Amino acid sequence: MNTFNAKNLKRIGVYTSGGDAPGMNAAIRAAVRMAIFKNIEVYGIFQGYQGMIDKQIKPLELGSMANVIQRGGTVLKSGRCKDFHMAEARALAAQNLKDAGIQALICIGGDGSFRGAKILWEEHQIPTMGVPGTIDNDINGSEYTIGFDTAVNTALEAIDKIRDTAASHDRLFIVEVMGRNTGYIAIEVGLAGGAEEVFFPEHPFDLQRVVNKVKKGMERGKKSSILVTAEGPTPGYAYEIAQKLKDEAGFSAKVCILGHIQRGGSPTALDRMVASRFSALAVEKLLQGHCNAMIGLQGTSYKMISFDEAVQKKPFSYEELLDLVNILSQ
Ligand code: F6P
Repeated sequence: MNTFNAKNLKRIGVYTSGGDAPGMNAAIRAAVRMAIFKNIEVYGIFQGYQGMIDKQIKPLELGSMANVIQRGGTVLKSGRCKDFHMAEARALAAQNLKDAGIQALICIGGDGSFRGAKILWEEHQIPTMGVPGTIDNDINGSEYTIGFDTAVNTALEAIDKIRDTAASHDRLFIVEVMGRNTGYIAIEVGLAGGAEEVFFPEHPFDLQRVVNKVKKGMERGKKSSILVTAEGPTPGYAYEIAQKLKDEAGFSAKVCILGHIQRGGSPTALDRMVASRFSALAVEKLLQGHCNAMIGLQGTSYKMISFDEAVQKKPFSYEELLDLVNILSQ
């Protein structure tokens, strides 16, 4: 965490970066309107870090944020910018920000986005306050990230539908949810959706576990089952699981990959509320001269967490939930 002289702060920039998440628009809206309320001008940087390099920077007014709170995606667009890994590109981005009179930034995104903001501070002293937004809920220092609740509910709605057809046909289904590096979505969807087994990077697929579980269910007359897996590093991983179940256990399983549907849709009340609170506080903290940090939720408190801490791997205590998944689906 660092401080800067915010006495003459007159203009800030806001951008979204990395994978989009439902609720990002509510976060942008809150940042813009809180800043304007505090007599600070706000510029939108479109397309994340790429937009800083390409000068896609435009003023935002109160009215630019009309009717966005309920919309999924991000009106500022987003992306992952390879060029930003190069020092020359970052120098150009910093110069463009200075030319536009932008003195500080609000970054709405995940750990990769915060790494970018951290380096902008270290190399060019551009102060940033982060707002954690990713459906994966994997930002260290915050129990919650914008988009997670909407994504879990989207996946859950799909599972409920799959359950209907699985039951009608006595089938085993493998449902793949998002989560490249972690299983927050998978475990919550698994528990709330009544899955028999859940797999994710921290708790990989185990053939014997599934065979034992499905057979035990069959013995008491259970004819359909749902397995949930996170996509992990390779989307389509559920097909590998299905193949193994067929080749090594003789089980036939249907696969349903939910994919990017989980990143879209109107944000839930929780996502809109947390997004609004994160961004409003982010603006206030910038105005107090704090930077190189993000706002996070710990228990019921909204707090500042340094980017150094935020970019560390978030510890994931899933064991209790996993046990519950197993007990409740026996
Ligand atoms: O936003 C996070 C995430 O949804 C991961 O769970 C997923 O693996 C990844 O993004 C996929 O992102 P993209 O297809 O945009 O590269």
